[in-house]
Amino acid sequence: MYEIDQPQVVEFKTKALAALGAATTAEHRAVGIDLRHDWPGKLRDTGFDTSRPAAWSAEGFLPFLPTDAQDRLLDSVTALSAVGSRFVGETLGPSGELHAMMHTRTRAAVDRWRQHGFDIDLTELGYVGERNDAAAYLQSRGWTTASTKVADLFVENGLRLPVDEAAEQALMSESFTYFTATRI
Ligand SMILES: C[S@@+](CC[C@H](N)C(=O)[O-])C[C@H]1O[C@@H](n2cnc3c(N)ncnc32)[C@H](O)[C@@H]1O
Repeated sequence: MYEIDQPQVVEFKTKALAALGAATTAEHRAVGIDLRHDWPGKLRDTGFDTSRPAAWSAEGFLPFLPTDAQDRLLDSVTALSAVGSRFVGETLGPSGELHAMMHTRTRAAVDRWRQHGFDIDLTELGYVGERNDAAAYLQSRGWTTASTKVADLFVENGLRLPVDEAAEQALMSESFTYFTATRI
């Protein structure tokens, strides 16, 4: 199993887990690199085998990439993926409207947390604006995809969507989607 994250995050997690005496049951190889940069070479150097199908998880990650970096990442994943590889991620849709809503909600949360001493501005970490729909982008590059709207996932699991405003509910129900993709 390969885990790619920012070098500082990999370093922090490695130290924290070691301090707890925790060890993964699977063979785990952490790759510390910024995914906006040239990461495929470093992944290969760590032993990644492109001749075998891979399972990629990019859950909770794509909104942290600028729009062009998201496209480059999906191109790199495609180039590294043998037929039969799988990919999972979520998409907020291409319009930028849901990204903007998420940004506003994060802004409000950060303002609340600041009153309790939390001084990191999470709104600076993501990128708002129009972007390619990740599932559609992969489809156009040789993947089949299956998508489930997040509202349906909440219903299937007996949960309530965590938004109160009707307009936000509608936007989230229609646009926020989890998808799986299979390389063909
Ligand atoms: C919300 S978390 C998702 C975590 C993931 N689903 C998991 O279960 O570990 C977003 C992750 O993306 C990482 N990240 C954000 N931007 C990145 C970048 N440019 N390069 C590498 N990792 C990045 C963050 O450090 C963080 O670990």
